Amino acid sequence: MSPASLDKSAFRFPSQERGVYLNHCGISPLYPGAAAAALAWDETHAALGVGVFRKLGDPTNAVRRAAATLLGVPAEDLSFLRNTAEGLSMVANGLPLQPGDQIVSYIHEYPSNHYPWRLQEARGAQLALLPDRDVGSGLPAERPRGFALEDLETLLRSGRVRAVALSHVQFTSGFTADLAAIGRLCHEHGAWLIVDAAQSLGVLPLRPLECGVDAVAASGWKWLLGPIGTGLLYTSPRLRAALRCTMAGADLMQQGDQYLDHTWRPHTDGRFFEYSTGHMAAAAALAACLNDLHLRAGIEQIAAETARLRELLIAGLDSTRFRRANLPGANGPILSWLVPEPEAVARRAAEAGVTVTVRGGYLRTAPHFYQTDEEIRLGIEVLNRAAAIG
Ligand SMILES: Cc1ncc(COP(=O)(O)O)c(C=O)c1O
Repeated sequence: MSPASLDKSAFRFPSQERGVYLNHCGISPLYPGAAAAALAWDETHAALGVGVFRKLGDPTNAVRRAAATLLGVPAEDLSFLRNTAEGLSMVANGLPLQPGDQIVSYIHEYPSNHYPWRLQEARGAQLALLPDRDVGSGLPAERPRGFALEDLETLLRSGRVRAVALSHVQFTSGFTADLAAIGRLCHEHGAWLIVDAAQSLGVLPLRPLECGVDAVAASGWKWLLGPIGTGLLYTSPRLRAALRCTMAGADLMQQGDQYLDHTWRPHTDGRFFEYSTGHMAAAAALAACLNDLHLRAGIEQIAAETARLRELLIAGLDSTRFRRANLPGANGPILSWLVPEPEAVARRAAEAGVTVTVRGGYLRTAPHFYQTDEEIRLGIEVLNRAAAIG
């Protein structure tokens, strides 16, 4: 049974008429209300030109406000961007780093949270990668699994670590980091904690202020169900004050449209990272997702309901063929599976209308809160059949 207060008829997606979508960790179906909001923006723009701002307001304000509510932080600390890598790059490039300073990350991070840190090697900084560990999973070592807090603590003890950059949820194994514990360690050792939340924002509660997180970057088209090419960045005022500016344009400056006033007066709030003209229709669309879906359903409800749907998958998938990668008790939104010939299973499932993806050798199943038990049952049936053929 769905939680009583979550009326799923209010959250229908056209994709539900076409098959079973278990790829919310990849590219999600766009929330139809977001498509409508983008269209309304574009049609008003077509009719009124610049008058669209008078009629509809600046949608970046709406998206910053809604995202801030989701994270439990002030709206001034939010920035509307294009993707996770853009946010992490501006943070990484802006950090005051000296030769010999260290940045800690994990060996199997997604590229958006790896290469921006590699770039800092040109400044003499060292990127130290946490090794992959069994972390109690019993999974084979050739697959990404997770990292251990003890390894992080050992590196932090060197006193040279300036930043720790980790995903909240790993895109391969689904390993979910204990951000509160990591935040405590970073605080103790004076290191910034930078989190890639592409795989958690919109499906797991994430409270940067409670976990001592200094920056959170995420993409809009996964668990937020928004447009491709949208991203969010939270930064603490303390971190922003420490960063140098690495991207600049008209929108960076407090003098706004006084374009011939070239005084160096950058915004000090989240607009510090919104250096020039953004994609307004996409901002309107992402604001619609956050307001109509996540804030309306409630993030705790969404987390509880997705956990319940994952339990249906765990109970229904044939355990002789699907070996679960996630740690028992872990509540990450991606269920990753070891299964013989995962690519072939994913292909056969797609032919039968069930969308899953393979990353790091795992077959990933990732349901979202709006889906029904019937969809999950159908997904299980198709996946069990697809795995039995091999
Ligand atoms: C952990 C993680 N970070 C980031 C991204 C996406 O990054 P970007 O928004 O830069 O495309 C993904 C996409 O799969 C991801 O899994």
